[in-house]
Amino acid sequence: MKHIILIGFMGSGKTSVGEKLAETLNLSFLDTDEQIERTSGMKISDIFEKYGETYFRGLETETLKNLLKDGERKVISVGGGLPVQEKNQPYLKELGTVVFLEASEETLIERLEGDTTRPMLKGGNLREKIHMLMEQRKKAYDKVADCHIQTDNKNFEEIIEGIRNEI
Ligand code: S3P
Repeated sequence: MKHIILIGFMGSGKTSVGEKLAETLNLSFLDTDEQIERTSGMKISDIFEKYGETYFRGLETETLKNLLKDGERKVISVGGGLPVQEKNQPYLKELGTVVFLEASEETLIERLEGDTTRPMLKGGNLREKIHMLMEQRKKAYDKVADCHIQTDNKNFEEIIEGIRNEI
């Protein structure tokens, strides 16, 4: 099934761009974090707090596998850490066209400053956290992506236009 899958770091705009892209293409939209919250009845931050990151990563893989059975073409945005797990990478490729939404660390800092919903960014210095995680994750994003879209200083229309030209 040729779904359109948006990957990228937290704050790269996967969910908001995904919703708009789905609307433009007249497709439905699914966000893996929202799906996990729906099926577990818990907020992502509570899942991390109560059961830990490893448990959450298991839910991500389960959600991804279930999507493989979904016959309705969709725009799907996935959590920033999902493509980093090697076992998820073939599933992403099988799902469809993988679009990597890129943003500079400066832009990410601006967008994520003051965020309280993301456990991976809790405590410590935000700039250092983003830099460290980005260093760990960039290779995985590049490996799994079919195309890259730079989002710095672009509005929704420009980003969506960029994606439509690539897919
Ligand atoms: C995470 C990103 C979040 C969410 C969870 C972990 C990560 O999704 O899945 O907090 O490890 O990067 P967004 O990328 O949609 O913020």
